[in-house]
Amino acid sequence: MEKVVVVTGANSGIGLALCQRLLAEDSQLRLCLACRNPNRAEAARSALLTSHPDAHIDLLHLDVGSVQSVLSAAQEVKARYSRLDYLYLNAGIMPNPQVDMKALFKGLFSSNVINMFATAEGLLTQQDRLNPDGLQEVFATNLFGHFLLIRELEALLCQEGHTSRVVWTSSSNARRSAFSMDDMQHSRGTEPYSSSKYASDLLSLALNRRKNSEGMFSSVMCPGLVMTNLTYGILPPFFWTLIMPIMYFIRIFTNTFTLTPYNGAEALHELFLRKPESLDPRAKYHSLTSGLGTNYTQPRQMDIDDGMAEGLYVKLLDLEKAVRRKLSQENSDMESH
Ligand SMILES: NC(=O)c1ccc[n+]([C@@H]2O[C@H](COP(=O)([O-])OP(=O)(O)OC[C@H]3O[C@@H](n4cnc5c(N)ncnc54)[C@H](OP(=O)(O)O)[C@@H]3O)[C@@H](O)[C@H]2O)c1
Repeated sequence: MEKVVVVTGANSGIGLALCQRLLAEDSQLRLCLACRNPNRAEAARSALLTSHPDAHIDLLHLDVGSVQSVLSAAQEVKARYSRLDYLYLNAGIMPNPQVDMKALFKGLFSSNVINMFATAEGLLTQQDRLNPDGLQEVFATNLFGHFLLIRELEALLCQEGHTSRVVWTSSSNARRSAFSMDDMQHSRGTEPYSSSKYASDLLSLALNRRKNSEGMFSSVMCPGLVMTNLTYGILPPFFWTLIMPIMYFIRIFTNTFTLTPYNGAEALHELFLRKPESLDPRAKYHSLTSGLGTNYTQPRQMDIDDGMAEGLYVKLLDLEKAVRRKLSQENSDMESH
């Protein structure tokens, strides 16, 4: 039977590279590109069809940062497919990144240079804002929209006699110190990206605790440092071009500089092949590239615990209720006008 795979944020970078790799792995896949921009989605589909002319590629309009869009997209998925095998939660944003240039130049010539690029610790802050749903934009896009999507698709993901897989594109930038249970949307801090990625690590653990018995298995991965639209938003492309020889040099000594989207998608591809029972729910699967350019995947234990994971899950359920209540109120207000 053909496998059904949905990938969010599939039109560029790591998501698009994953799609290429999955089609090369299994030409019988039914691949669904879930993207917010129809033109970019169509361009991605055409590019994939150029290398895989017989592939089954569907498009799905999904703005994962909008509650209404997530609900509509989920309805569409349920109408189209009778089950889901893989749900790759890859869409992500890092808006208005501010780089501490002093720390960057200091770090470039220090022994901390690899860790600095790998985790962006002490280097990167972002300016977040409220979205039209009244949620913090980074939280809504990187975490909550995906949570809602899973909730809406539970009937497809949890079917008797069938296992399904949820795979989060997390980051090494996910840090416990950036996340607070009292402010899970990170409305008061300056590291919403790090907070949202740490929350995805926690959520994955909670999903495994709650849903493994129903056949759903969740994993998190880190693509390493990859040159994509996201990284080109952090520093201008000319800067990256300038330091690229240094980056390739550093890669001789580290393995987290995967640099290309193809390499960055290594762990996503590996997780596609792995049996769910073999997965460690407390590990983050890292895409790594050796100095000689060989790709491999390595699981590394995450700094997470069950209590926090469960606490976050309950808070997300509460927020989901509030969001649905607000939406139905708005809809009935509109009808009565
Ligand atoms: N690049 C790295 O070094 C790195 C490192 C660690 C983790 N990551 C993670 O990797 C994932 C992929 O990022 P990337 O590096 O490949 O960057 P990218 O090329 O910018 O890809 C991000 C994708 O997410 C989509 N997206 C953003 N907001 C969306 C929304 N509201 N609804 C639907 N789709 C949305 C983008 O669509 P548009 O084209 O319409 O914007 C794009 O397709 C992200 O989760 C990112 O946090 C990247």
